[in-house]
This record gives sequence, C-alpha cells and structure tokens, in this order.
Amino acid sequence: AFSSTPSLNFDKVGIIGLGLMGHGIAQTAATAAATKNLHSSVVAYESDKIFLDKGRDRIQSSIDKLVKKDKMTWSQADDVLNKIVFTTDRSALSDADFIVEAIIENMDLKKNLYSSLGKECKAGTIFASNTSSLSITEMALASGRPEKFVGVHFFNPVQIMKLVEVIRTEYTSMEVFDKTVAWVGDVGKVPVKCRDTPGFIVNRLLVPNLMQAILLLERGDATTHDIDISMQLGAGHPMGPLHLADYVGLDTCLYIMEGWVKDFPGEGAFVVPEILKQKVARGELGRKSGKGFYYWD
Ligand code: CAA
Ligand code: NAD
Repeated sequence: AFSSTPSLNFDKVGIIGLGLMGHGIAQTAATAAATKNLHSSVVAYESDKIFLDKGRDRIQSSIDKLVKKDKMTWSQADDVLNKIVFTTDRSALSDADFIVEAIIENMDLKKNLYSSLGKECKAGTIFASNTSSLSITEMALASGRPEKFVGVHFFNPVQIMKLVEVIRTEYTSMEVFDKTVAWVGDVGKVPVKCRDTPGFIVNRLLVPNLMQAILLLERGDATTHDIDISMQLGAGHPMGPLHLADYVGLDTCLYIMEGWVKDFPGEGAFVVPEILKQKVARGELGRKSGKGFYYWD
C-alpha cells in the first residue's frame, strides 16, 4: 500500500555495491522515496560501469515482476527508477546522510573503502554495513568515525524479506542507532536490534544449520532431495537447507564459515564441510553460477 509519510531522518541515501543485495536495498530505499517522500534521492554507486549497468538491470527486472503482478503501476515504477542516481563517481556520495555498503564479504576491501569514505564524506554522514558475518567494530574503527557506524543486515531477496537486523558496537551513538532503527521501519521493514556478535541473530542460527545439512550429505546419510524436503515438510521452512545454500551462494557460505572457524576456534557449531570447499574451488557457487547442490537455469 502506498502512503505518504514525510521524511524524518535521512534525506540523501547512498548505496555502495549493486550486487545480489545492494540492488534490492537501493530499490527498497527508492520505493520509500517515491511513495513516502522519504528521501530526496538515492545514489547507487558501483566502481565499474559494467556492474553499475548490471545493477540497474536487476532493479528493472524486479520492478517489472512487481508491475506484472499488479503490485506496482508503470507510473510508480517510473517514479522509483527516477529517484535513483546511478553513478561510478564516488564524489556523488560525499554529502549523503546515510550510506549502506553492500560490497563483497572481504574485510580488507571493506576497511579500505571505509577509510577513504571517512575522509571523503561530510562529518554527519552515517555509515551502515550490510555484512553477513564480519566485525562491525573493525570496520567502524577503520572509518575514523565509529560513533556514526552501524550494521544494517538485510535478507535475500531484499524486496521480499521483511527483516533487517540493526547492529550497534560499543562506539555507536544511541542517536545514530535510534535513527537507523527508525529508518528501517520507514522503508517498510521490521527492525530487530543486536550487538556486534558473529552472525548476529539469524546467521548465528542459520549458517551452522546449513553446514550440518551439507555434512549429512557428505557422510552419505541422506540425499540432497530428502534433506531439503525434510526441512520443508517436517520443519515448515520455505526452502530446504541445500536449496537455500545455493540461493545464498556457496562462496558466501564458505567465506562466512571459514572466517568464523579462524576467529572463533572454540565455537563447536562452526565447521567447514569438505564438499563445500571442493564445490567452491570448482566454481560451483550455487544459483549464480548455474550449479551448486542443484543445476540452475
Ligand atoms: N523482486 C520482486 N519480486 C520478487 C523477487 C524480487 N527480487 N523475488 C521474488 N519475488 C516475488 C515473486 O514474484 C512472488 O510474487 P507473488 O507472491 O506475487 O507470486 C513472491 O516474491 C514469491 O516468490 P516465488 O513465487 O518465486 O517463490 P516462493 O513462494 O517459493 O518464495 C522466497 C520465494 C521468498 C525466496 C521463499 O522461498 C523464501 O522465503 N525462501 C527462504 C529465503 C531465506 O531464507 N532468505 C534468507 C537467506 S540468508 C540471508 O539472506 C542472510 C545472509 O547474510 C546470508
Ligand atoms: P555480490 O557479489 O552479489 O555483490 C557485490 C557487489 O559489490 C558487486 O556488484 C561488486 O561489483 C561490488 N563491489 C565490489 N567491490 C566494490 C567496491 N570496492 N566498490 C564498489 N562496489 C564494489 O554480493 P552480495 O551477495 O550482494 O553481498 C554483498 C554483501 O551483503 C556482503 O557483505 C554479504 O556478506 C552481504 N549479505 C549477503 C547475503 C546473501 O544472501 N548473498 C545476505 C545478506 C547480506
């Protein structure tokens, strides 16, 4: 339902990285901008023109889907796209009020980015990382403005999943945290709060579960089909765990778990199955590469 609530917090919003997650976050912010006057503009940034165009195409095809299902009119679709400024010029982000980063899950890359942004952006800009598994505190310190740094963890597919975990570190100011929680509600999602702990709430419970499913398969205890159908019909999950691992990306699943095994060797729930390593080494990354535990079109 489209309503009009005026903006309270962030006028100009920036999104960095328009991959699987970032394109959905940009679309979500732009939809709130177009329908609720929440933001004057949404700046969508990729460092490379090819990936920028790919991000724009992804947003377009998601919007087409919504229009075809009568969840949006063509004119609203135009309004949403018109709110987004697509750019490869980082200086377009320097006066943003709130920036959500969704680049690949690599701490060194993220720290480099935040260290530059900390120098380039106006003093008031708040930084928010969509990381699945990395330490928000470490990135916050690299930014040089840890009091203005939070985690905002969206779920895939962003356009459909209602939850966003909002993460605070010991440095995050309460004002920044409260504004971020309010923003999540304003863009139509349900915020939950969590401290900066590995995996926050959902991934701490979900990713070990995916690993146990992969281990069941690796030991030959059950087939891919039977593992997935069991969790769908026996536990009411919308997708079985191997299907979901393919959906998230097997490389992403591996990066998350390898990082935790290294950083938290005492945590028994953190294990890396051999077949997950082998699949990723072969380029079988799940849905995005056409093959994972399943074949994909
Ligand atoms: N844009 C617009 N619409 C979309 C869309 C997109 N990107 N993706 C799906 N949809 C729409 C579909 O068109 C469909 O619309 P209708 O209901 O109007 O038909 C609706 O969403 C449902 O999609 P489908 O009919 O294709 O399929 P489905 O009913 O099986 O639902 C699903 C798909 C919502 C993905 C569901 O299977 C599901 O909830 N799966 C689990 C997802 C999950 O657990 N995500 C979290 C992953 S973990 C994570 O994200 C955290 C991390 O850090 C790794
Ligand atoms: P992705 O590979 O689909 O997209 C990453 C994008 O970032 C790419 O388009 C790439 O071109 C771009 N990029 C890389 N380096 C960049 C840089 N320096 N500057 C600008 N753009 C850059 O990855 P994704 O799955 O969207 O994941 C993004 C983030 O979201 C990660 O931190 C991941 O852990 C997190 N996340 C992923 C999921 C999931 O299910 N895949 C769910 C929640 C959170």
